[in-house]
Amino acid sequence: MDHKKLLENITDYHHADEDWVVESCLKALPWEQELSDTVGEHAAEMVNDLRQKGAPMGQLESFLKDYSLETEEGLALMCLAEALLRVPDKETANALIRDKVAAANWLDTAGSSKDWVVKAAGVGLFMTSKTLDGVLARVGEPFIREAMVKAMQVLGKQFVLGVDIEDADRNAQKYQNKGYRVSYDILGEGARTAIDAEAYFESYLHAIHYIGERATQDEFKRPGISVKLSALHPRYEFAQSEYCVPEIRALLIELAQAAQKHNLSLTVDAEEADRLMLSMRIIEDVLPALDPDWDGFGLAVQAYQKRALPLLDYLRSLANTHNRRLQIRLVKGAYWDSEIKHAQEQGLKGFPVFTRKSNTDLSYLACAHVLLKQSDAFYPMFATHNAHSLAAILEMSRDTGNPFECQRLFGMGEALFEHIMGDDNMAASIYAPVGLHRDLLPYLVRRLLENGANTSFVNRMLDLKAPVEDLVADPVGKARERNTHAHPGIKAPNKLYDNELGAHRINSKGLDLADPHDVDSLLAGMSKFTGHYEATPVISSVIYRDGHPEDIINPADKNDPVGIVWSAKEGLTNKAMRKAQEAFIEWSGTDPDIRAHILEQIADLFEDNQDELMALLVREAGKT
Ligand code: FAD
Ligand code: 2OP
Repeated sequence: MDHKKLLENITDYHHADEDWVVESCLKALPWEQELSDTVGEHAAEMVNDLRQKGAPMGQLESFLKDYSLETEEGLALMCLAEALLRVPDKETANALIRDKVAAANWLDTAGSSKDWVVKAAGVGLFMTSKTLDGVLARVGEPFIREAMVKAMQVLGKQFVLGVDIEDADRNAQKYQNKGYRVSYDILGEGARTAIDAEAYFESYLHAIHYIGERATQDEFKRPGISVKLSALHPRYEFAQSEYCVPEIRALLIELAQAAQKHNLSLTVDAEEADRLMLSMRIIEDVLPALDPDWDGFGLAVQAYQKRALPLLDYLRSLANTHNRRLQIRLVKGAYWDSEIKHAQEQGLKGFPVFTRKSNTDLSYLACAHVLLKQSDAFYPMFATHNAHSLAAILEMSRDTGNPFECQRLFGMGEALFEHIMGDDNMAASIYAPVGLHRDLLPYLVRRLLENGANTSFVNRMLDLKAPVEDLVADPVGKARERNTHAHPGIKAPNKLYDNELGAHRINSKGLDLADPHDVDSLLAGMSKFTGHYEATPVISSVIYRDGHPEDIINPADKNDPVGIVWSAKEGLTNKAMRKAQEAFIEWSGTDPDIRAHILEQIADLFEDNQDELMALLVREAGKT
């Protein structure tokens, strides 16, 4: 397939039907019963062993055990963490704290844990509850907010290798001695201003030089750095691609060339689905600026995106074109909840991600198979804390004998990785956040959300009541048994307003401004109007062009005529008000159910006839 076709193929999968994408994953993955059994046994062995030994849990794991999202406290904590993250003013943050924490019974949890970090976080939360219950509730809120921030700080410290790269480099020694490579993640993402972006860029560059100058020369222990493109530019958005792509490309080239000079690896993290095609444009432009003999450049690929498999086809072709190998970190994806909500809220054609956890697990295996096989193009790095996914990778890798890496996050998966380290052909590495508390929160919230969910492997593993066979159930077998693959409990974007009582109202269709198909057809439609938009007063279907016409020019481009606006002649607004009052008499006397029905019918007609409406408007525009 040529380059253009490969890109189109990715876009075709974006919001594709889940059944169809799952079937294509099944086709891409050779998976015999024998392999399934071996993987299941190995995974069960790991889980049993970890549970029997009462293997020491990471701090996050202990915290999740006490504050699971199924408990009132866990839910309140998530809401609070989110509130603290997004609420700009203290008053609103206080109000939210009051609302969310009042009902929770923190004391029980804070008292039950043996782990001091969990206890400390719990005490921070408990103070909240006590204060809120008391007479001092109102005056207490600023203190509560502080207590919450402190509790999050204590917890956060457990997931950060160091407050700066110097500190992290010192602390990394211990893990390097155990045989881990370290990939430093300089915290900070979603830059809001050019000043923020510049500061993030400088800290990446400083980190690369700092660790590069000190790192061991041992090829198999060289550290790496992970970069989030959203940290490098305040307008890293598809709609701004004309500006942001060249600017980010220049910055990423500078970082990658610095990493290349020190022979470190540099991996571009995967972020929201909206950014995928944008990141591909940037990466495609960066590759020609790099030395093909330096194998260290790579990127993360999210298996929960329906586009994962065609994305790998495209990346393989890119690697071949540039005569190099790409490091691919295969992850499941850390933004699942927001992807689902975003698609529903925007009324998109479908979800960019799978809706069943086991479909993501299946896609992960299908992608792993491709990566392990295509060692001419890829060096695979498997980032997961799931025993079944890891066991499957180890088994599949025996077939190919190609080298690969397994990665865990700092503060998580330690006991599990002790099980698999030392396997032939496998290197192990730790993804280690570096930075200050204020930049940790988005990362921490993602960890709490993904691991707090009752489908998550870590969550199920900690719940000793969860049967081992469920924990290590084969996702391929599950998919083969099902007739339909989408989760019935997750409402498709167009069904968002349906309810359990049978009420049915179609959500309005949205445009995905990060989807090249949608954007191209929108621009093609808009181009027909260029210079011809005409806005006129309309009263009871009569168009009035007897006022004053004014030419409108695009304020951002004085050479771009938009069209004409006809202002209303004197007296026309009174006429409009009279008409509205007359109509209101009949309308207000109409039964509310009939009114609702009429409005719904109008909305449906608009939805169903969007294309015809557009064609009509284009014809009208052509007449002026
Ligand atoms: P599991 O419990 O097996 O899987 C949990 C995952 O399943 C969720 O995170 C989600 O992706 C998926 N899931 C949950 N519910 C559903 C559902 N109903 N339908 C479909 N899918 C569902 N993430 C990024 O996005 N970008 C990165 O660059 C990135 N880098 C990482 C680096 C490392 C070293 C590691 C270990 C993880 C990284 N992650 C990254 C996080 C990763 O995407 C996962 O969120 C996390 O590892 C949990 O997956 P798991 O296989 O360990 O656990
Ligand atoms: C995240 O920042 C680990 O990159 C992943 O959530």
